[in-house]
Amino acid sequence: MNIMNIKRFCMLLLFINKFSVSFNLKPQINTKPIINPIPDIKKRQIMNSILLNSIYSSCGPLLYGYLSFFYPIKDKNGGDGLIAKDRVGNDVVLNSWIDEHKYPSRDLVQGLKGDPYYLITTSDNSLEKFAINAICTHLGCVVPWNVAEQKYMCPCHGSQYNSQGKVIRGPAPKSLSLAELEINDNKVILKEWKKNDFRTNEEPWWL
Ligand code: FES
Repeated sequence: MNIMNIKRFCMLLLFINKFSVSFNLKPQINTKPIINPIPDIKKRQIMNSILLNSIYSSCGPLLYGYLSFFYPIKDKNGGDGLIAKDRVGNDVVLNSWIDEHKYPSRDLVQGLKGDPYYLITTSDNSLEKFAINAICTHLGCVVPWNVAEQKYMCPCHGSQYNSQGKVIRGPAPKSLSLAELEINDNKVILKEWKKNDFRTNEEPWWL
């Protein structure tokens, strides 16, 4: 590169520099302090609080319903029993239950501590004075009533109980537990069975 070329090159640089200054093409450095880097921060806060409130108000009742499932139903009569509930959670009313469960029906209700209990219809179309807990005493499967065999037969490991819930074949170690059944205001009430177990004449093992 000769001297002339260098001179031309320097002139060109000078021209470009002047051109960019006159048309404000050089990057500007902002020296003002940044006060609020997020645009519309107020609006965003309002939208966030609306979103959170709507989540709480919609999920709260669902969460309550879910947790209450694990909490045993309390006796509304103030005693140590409770009103049995049918499959859809309604109180079991004696007359309508018997209308739908003629002798020799055995059907499940929700009873003490949320456990399933069998209500047994008697030949005079009333209910037995006891209800049988359907939870197997081996490992806790729900034991179905086998109409053909006239026994409760556990599908999990083969334990068997007679028509009153007394164990007749293992591996279940104990008979099915009992609840006392009372009728109050035409509603079916289940209470803890505290007397001797009439099947074994022993103290109830479940107390
Ligand atoms: S749970 Fe019923 S026999 Fe094992």
